[in-house]
Amino acid sequence: MQDSVRKAFLEDGAVLIKGFLNEEQLAQCRAAYDWAVENHGPHAFRMFDGTEQQSHVDNANPRAKARLEELVASLPFGKLFAQLWGSEHVWYFAEEVFLKAGGRGSRTLWHQDTSYLPWAGLHWGNAWISFESVPKRNALEIVRGSHKGPRYDGTTFLDPNDPTQPLHGGNALPRLPDVEAQRKQDPDTYEILSWATEPGDIVVLHPGALHGGAAVDETFPDRHTFVFRFFGDDATFRPLPEHSAAGYPQQGVLFTQELADLKAGDSFRHSTFRQIA
Ligand SMILES: [Fe+2]
Repeated sequence: MQDSVRKAFLEDGAVLIKGFLNEEQLAQCRAAYDWAVENHGPHAFRMFDGTEQQSHVDNANPRAKARLEELVASLPFGKLFAQLWGSEHVWYFAEEVFLKAGGRGSRTLWHQDTSYLPWAGLHWGNAWISFESVPKRNALEIVRGSHKGPRYDGTTFLDPNDPTQPLHGGNALPRLPDVEAQRKQDPDTYEILSWATEPGDIVVLHPGALHGGAAVDETFPDRHTFVFRFFGDDATFRPLPEHSAAGYPQQGVLFTQELADLKAGDSFRHSTFRQIA
């Protein structure tokens, strides 16, 4: 791996890896993705089900866990992240499933995953695998360098008219800036990264980076994206706010029981997460 790629991930919080998966690997991912959409888990969130304008998001589906661990371990992610981070070990966390269809899906609001998940450290990465050729205009967008902080309160995702509505509330975390509104006023407010991608390319994102976007429209109506999340040696447990208005546990809502014994600053480790390097 070129030093420039490592440096870009470290400084920007996101990087494009061209041609990472071959056709066969991509077909295996697609089969697992289709299964995951059909057999969604307890964290799935569906809108407009059965209509043309369909949206489906799922996370860490326990029914898919064993199958996805096998798949992920067979793909070259262990080597990729060991090199990208300079980490001796790499663990697989879990998947995310994104489906937007019907050409009228709205933007995904700007957020950091670390507002919802108890994660800190440099060795985190979400690998975005889209099965279509995605034009830049419909791609995931990232605020360059925003993984370095601050950690903002998350949006509730509930009110399109209040895109920064705080999830946890209180004073523990600062409120999100309204990135989209500020951009509309002045396109130079933020340095935004995004890439057009072809099937087989992946976008790797540090989950502490502000990201969003990836709307679909008439000329690019459907997007199917599988995300696999990973962590390495420098991954620590950073609890969510103690008094969350949303009633969020400090461990977050994924693997809550497994993480119950971790204290702030502990290495993020549990035997439930498959080691792949
Ligand atoms: Fe996200």
